[in-house]
Amino acid sequence: YGTQTVDEKGHLTIGGVEVTEIVSQYGTPVMVYDTELFKERASGFKETFEKKGMKAQVAYASKAFSSIAIYQLAEQQGLSLDVVSGGELYTAVAAGFPRERIHFHGNNKSREEITYAFEEQIGCIVIDNFLEIDIIKEIASERKQKMNVLIRVTPGVEAHTHDYITTGQEDSKFGFDLKNGQTDQAFNALLDHEFVNFLGMHCHIGSQIFETDAFKFAAEVLMEKMMEWRTVHQFICPVLNLGGGFGIRYTEEDHPLEPAVYVEEMAEVVKSMAGEYEYPVPEIWIEPGRSLVGDAGTTIYSAGSTKEVPGIRTYVAVDGGMSDNIRPALYDAHYSSAIANRMNEPHDQQWTVAGKCCESGDKLIEEAFLPRVETGDLLAVFCTGAYTYSMASNYNRLPRPAVVFAEKGQHQLVVRRETYEDIIKLDLPLHQQAKE
Ligand code: LLP
Repeated sequence: YGTQTVDEKGHLTIGGVEVTEIVSQYGTPVMVYDTELFKERASGFKETFEKKGMKAQVAYASKAFSSIAIYQLAEQQGLSLDVVSGGELYTAVAAGFPRERIHFHGNNKSREEITYAFEEQIGCIVIDNFLEIDIIKEIASERKQKMNVLIRVTPGVEAHTHDYITTGQEDSKFGFDLKNGQTDQAFNALLDHEFVNFLGMHCHIGSQIFETDAFKFAAEVLMEKMMEWRTVHQFICPVLNLGGGFGIRYTEEDHPLEPAVYVEEMAEVVKSMAGEYEYPVPEIWIEPGRSLVGDAGTTIYSAGSTKEVPGIRTYVAVDGGMSDNIRPALYDAHYSSAIANRMNEPHDQQWTVAGKCCESGDKLIEEAFLPRVETGDLLAVFCTGAYTYSMASNYNRLPRPAVVFAEKGQHQLVVRRETYEDIIKLDLPLHQQAKE
């Protein structure tokens, strides 16, 4: 992946830095991001629209990995930012991210969160439900402050992906249903408000999607609705947001397209439909998360104990697990791995990589092909840049790992390792018993 290579010592290098060096400086588990790969992906998306001569915003869906440094990197790449909570917005503010490029999502934003978005004068709120419409109208009128909005709709597209993360079908907690009139009702409720600037629709049809048809279909369905609003209300939507969800390659079983290809095909549908119906080509917004950070991230663990269950399997336990990567336990996600300090040896023995949490289900990889693992070896798990650190927990009171950026032979700590003091920092001791 990206700038990963193996040097003459047989050590894995990322961004021109030996993983062994990163480990000696920051310990394990440690997550290493190849920032050059992030930049390549970002410009790949942006250039796809530029080549087509289409106006676009590429917003990093930062739920995939949220930290001050990644927001700053995203800003340097000219990306916009999708945040889904007051906490992500706060992080963006702390990173100095340009407010006008921040888009605020979420299916149950609180009044406090929405007020915060107004205070920071962010670029757009993606409205998810009727309650939010009322809150936004109220706050906008009270403050006499304009706010750009999109409405999130469920276009009824079922993408072929894992059930838990499919959000585009009609039975979804997200957004307004396109088919039963909800979307028109939301549109009507927003159209003529003095301080609400309605920009158009948003949809997100799922995550880790490999095929382009679902995206194209969603684009078509939304474009049709836009044509209808033009006919009925003489209203032209200046923006069409088609979400994220572009799949990446975790293991050899996965066969995604190049990330930019998804975008290219969607953009083509929009452009040609607009041409056919003489509709002004809307500005396209997309929200990739996984495809920007997923394969840029690698987690390095230290191997601890090994255990053979004769005739069945051999376990190697590492110093992290479901606390830093819940995806195998939660979604049955698959990953590939290697021994980072002995890359040149044949990886031909089958191992089960277990975590250190007190649960039998805490297995990171069921069938890892590795050399004979020795205690102290460094195990690299690839493609862990998305939805790992951001979903990490302190289960079993394990401190969360350090996160490091590596590029062109340089490395930098961007999230320090949690300490035991961090772990108890919210705890308060029991009240003293009143003396008798
Ligand atoms: N936009 C919206 C409105 C979303 O809900 C999401 C992801 C994205 C964009 C970014 O999707 P991406 O490009 O990253 O696929 N925790 C799960 C994934 C949940 C995705 C939630 N929404 C996982 O680990 O696979």
